[in-house]
Amino acid sequence: MLYYYQFDFTKLSGYTGLRTYLDELDIKHGTEGKRAFYLAVAPEHFETIVHGIDVGGLAEPEEYRCRLVIEKPFGKDLATARELNRKLLEVFDEERIYRIDHYLGKEMIQNILVLRFCNTVFESLWNNKFIDNIQISLLEQGEVGFRGDYYEPAGALRDMVQSHLVQILSLVAMEPPVNLDTNSIRNEKLKVVQSLREFTPELLRDDIVFGQYGRGVREGREIKAYREEERVAKDSHTETFVAMKICINNFRWAGTPFYIRTGKSMSESFAEIVIQFKELPNILYFKESGVQEPNLLVIRIQPNVGVFFQFNTRDFDRHNGLVANKMDYVHSASAQGNTPEAYERLILDVLKGDSTLFSRWDEVEASWKFVDRIIEYRENGKFSFPNYEAGSMGPLKAFELLAKSGRQWWHI
Ligand code: BG6
Repeated sequence: MLYYYQFDFTKLSGYTGLRTYLDELDIKHGTEGKRAFYLAVAPEHFETIVHGIDVGGLAEPEEYRCRLVIEKPFGKDLATARELNRKLLEVFDEERIYRIDHYLGKEMIQNILVLRFCNTVFESLWNNKFIDNIQISLLEQGEVGFRGDYYEPAGALRDMVQSHLVQILSLVAMEPPVNLDTNSIRNEKLKVVQSLREFTPELLRDDIVFGQYGRGVREGREIKAYREEERVAKDSHTETFVAMKICINNFRWAGTPFYIRTGKSMSESFAEIVIQFKELPNILYFKESGVQEPNLLVIRIQPNVGVFFQFNTRDFDRHNGLVANKMDYVHSASAQGNTPEAYERLILDVLKGDSTLFSRWDEVEASWKFVDRIIEYRENGKFSFPNYEAGSMGPLKAFELLAKSGRQWWHI
């Protein structure tokens, strides 16, 4: 049974008043003090609210397992994340803190482990011997719009890379867990983030592309530049696009690059993972046809939800040569971004006490360690922004990042 109440906090005489109010609701509905506090507020308010929850005795008694759900960004770098975590732990223990990442609530993200570990053909090929590279793209047509004051200090690195992209990367690259328990899965995800190759000054320069959108046109509509958005500095150096080559230093992945990209104000909105398998020797049929289309496995997260596989067959129309055929499994429902279903699923998990789809502190910490160095480089560097037009597919350099090793971004 779900009851919905809306109340004016200012009329409740603080957190003690809130406790009295919630206690009354508990008695009325027999909910026995089981509470989940969901902090979907600006990050600067996290500590104050948690302090209030503590002072008002709202997190007690502990045996009721009151829970804290906290939205991203969890800190703005490693140091602030650690400090925030320390403050939260004074009130809630780790098992009661749910760091939410709504991408983990999306159907296709949850499907990654099923596809990998329930299919012989995929699992046996899921390594550097058979996979040439893996691409993860989270691209949005939407501009920064009215969120300028949040986005200016965040940028794409904090907004998308530190959370969503690192989480997806760990699911794609992790080893099989010993079982499906929350901690077994989280342990394997953590190892991936701990194995990410550190960016040296040379790699920072060569393997990362930052972008910021200038004016542009999409579908006949003129779009303003990021620097013209509300509450954005006229000379802002915040990145609205990032692409990078990431290497994972472990036995499964050494030598197979992961390319990730995310951006705002793009020509299209889509989120997908592309697994490009290695080429076969250019002999026999490939020698005759002169081309070899790679096997591609595409996990479509949104707007289409499904799995796509490209493979070569004989060209039945022309009666000779080869053609790349597509097997396309499309889930009947499409997902238009920030889907309520993802949040519904996650909130239900909080109520059930299942934290598998939430980030454990050590995962968040490892992710900040990885991203901090990149953020520092971006913040101290001078980049020539804007460097891509709104309504385009991002800076030219993002294409060169792959082209220099004979690769390309796939979006089929
Ligand atoms: C949020 C970011 O976490 O994810 C937003 O803060 C971004 O900037 C959004 O637009 C994307 O989520 P979705 O579900 O719309 O792809």
